[in-house]
Amino acid sequence: MAGLEQTRQLVTEIPGPASLELTKRRAAAVSRGVNVSLPVFVARAFGGIIEDVDGNRLIDLASGIAVTTIGNSSPRVVEAVRAQVAEFTHTCFMVTPYERYIAVAEELNRITPGSGEKRSVLFNSGAEAVENAVKVARSYTRKPAVVAFNHAYHGRTNLAMALTAKSKPYKSGFGPFAPEVYRAPMSYPYRDGLIDKELATDGEKAAARAIDVIESQVGADSLAAVIIEPIAGEGGFIVPAEGFLPALLDWCRKNDVVFIADEVQTGFARTGAMFACEHEGPGGLEPDLICTAKGIADGLPLSAVTGRAQIMDASHVGGLGGTFGGNPIACAAALATITTIESDGLIERAQQLERLITEPLLRLQASDDRIGDVRGRGAMIAIELVRSGTAEPDAELTQKLSTAAHAAGVVVLTCGMFGNIIRLLPPLTISDDLLTEGLDILGRLLADL
Ligand SMILES: Cc1ncc(COP(=O)(O)O)c(C=O)c1O
Repeated sequence: MAGLEQTRQLVTEIPGPASLELTKRRAAAVSRGVNVSLPVFVARAFGGIIEDVDGNRLIDLASGIAVTTIGNSSPRVVEAVRAQVAEFTHTCFMVTPYERYIAVAEELNRITPGSGEKRSVLFNSGAEAVENAVKVARSYTRKPAVVAFNHAYHGRTNLAMALTAKSKPYKSGFGPFAPEVYRAPMSYPYRDGLIDKELATDGEKAAARAIDVIESQVGADSLAAVIIEPIAGEGGFIVPAEGFLPALLDWCRKNDVVFIADEVQTGFARTGAMFACEHEGPGGLEPDLICTAKGIADGLPLSAVTGRAQIMDASHVGGLGGTFGGNPIACAAALATITTIESDGLIERAQQLERLITEPLLRLQASDDRIGDVRGRGAMIAIELVRSGTAEPDAELTQKLSTAAHAAGVVVLTCGMFGNIIRLLPPLTISDDLLTEGLDILGRLLADL
C-alpha cells in the first residue's frame, strides 16, 4: 500500500455510485443503530489518504477516530502481523500463554508515566479497559463508588455508558445503568471563562470545585476511583486548566482513591508526548492506573490497563481476562507500533503537526468570531463553533461544515456535548502539503457558509 498516491482526487460525487450501492446493502444487513459519519466505502488507505471504492482519494483528518496514529497499514505492522498470523492466530493467553503478550505488557510498563513497579493486563476495546480499571480499583480499595466528569466519554458497555456524560446518542434508552457512578465538574477553560475568568486559568480552583462536589455528594470513604481523560476526547478536546489534574491526583492520594487516567484517545504520541499525562505538572502526572486502546496497535483490536503493581495485583487469581484479550496478532501489531513511534520520531512529528494545524486555525479565528475556541495538543486539535458574537454553541454550522468538508474530500469528525466542535486527528504520517490542503479547504468552506 506504500504506493497509494498521496494526493486528494475526486472522480465522482461523494459518495460515489459504488458507495451508494454498498449503502443500500448496509441498510438491509447492518443494524441501523450503527451510525456512519461519511458513507464512502474504503478500498485502501495509507499515509494521509483514504481511497474509496469509486476511486476517490480523500484527505484523512480522522485516523479512524485516533487509531491509525502511525498511518494505516504501517510497514512494520504489516510485516509483524503477517509473520504472527502464519505462526499461530490464537491459543488464549489464559489457556496456553505466549511471549508476545508479556512483551506488550513490558513495553506498556516501560512507556507509561510512573517510575515504580507496574503490571499490565490486555483486553480488546477501550470500554473493556475502562470496565476493568474500575474492577481493579474496587478490588484494591474495597470501596464501591466511581467519579467521572462532565463531558466525559468512556465507551458503550454498561458501566462505560454510566461513566459517559452525554445522553444522546450514547445512553438514551439503554438504561438502567451501573450504580455507584457520580459526576463532577470538569475544568473547561473556554466555557468556565465565560462565568469566572480565574476558573479558566487556575486549575487548582477548578479542582476545588470538583472536589467539593465529590466530598459532599460521594465522600472519600465510599470512593474507589476517579476516572478522567487528561484531554476530554469526544467531549471536545477540552484541555483542563493547568494544575487541575495534579490537584485532583493529590486529593486522590491523600484519600486512598485510585486515580485512573483514560488515555484511550490521547495515548501513543497523539498529543505530542507518548501519553497526555506527561504534559501535566512539573515532571508529568503519574496516574495509578492508565487505560489505553485505539492507537496502541495501528487498528488491530487491543486495549490495556497498566498501573502500580500493588493495585494491579490486588485482584484475585482468575478475576481478570477474556477469550480474545491480548490476541497474538494484535500484540505483534502493538510491538511494531511502539517501535515505529520511537524509531521514526513520531512524538516530535505530533509536536510539529500541532504548530502546522493551530497556526492557520488561529489566523482564521482572528477574522471569524464564529470560531469560539481553538484548542488541543499535538495532532489532536479542535475548533469550537459558536453563533457570531456569542458563545452559544452552533451545532448547525458545525454539521454544515463537516458535510461540506466530506463533499470536498476531507474526512473530519464532529464532537462535543453540544455537537458544535470539529476535531482534527490526522495520522502523524500525513504530509505537510496534504494537511495544509485539508486545512485550507476547511477554512474556505467555513468562509462560504
Ligand atoms: C477516552 C475514551 N475512552 C474509552 C473509549 C472507548 O473505546 P472503544 O470504542 O474502543 O470501546 C473511547 C472511544 O472513543 C475514548 O475516546
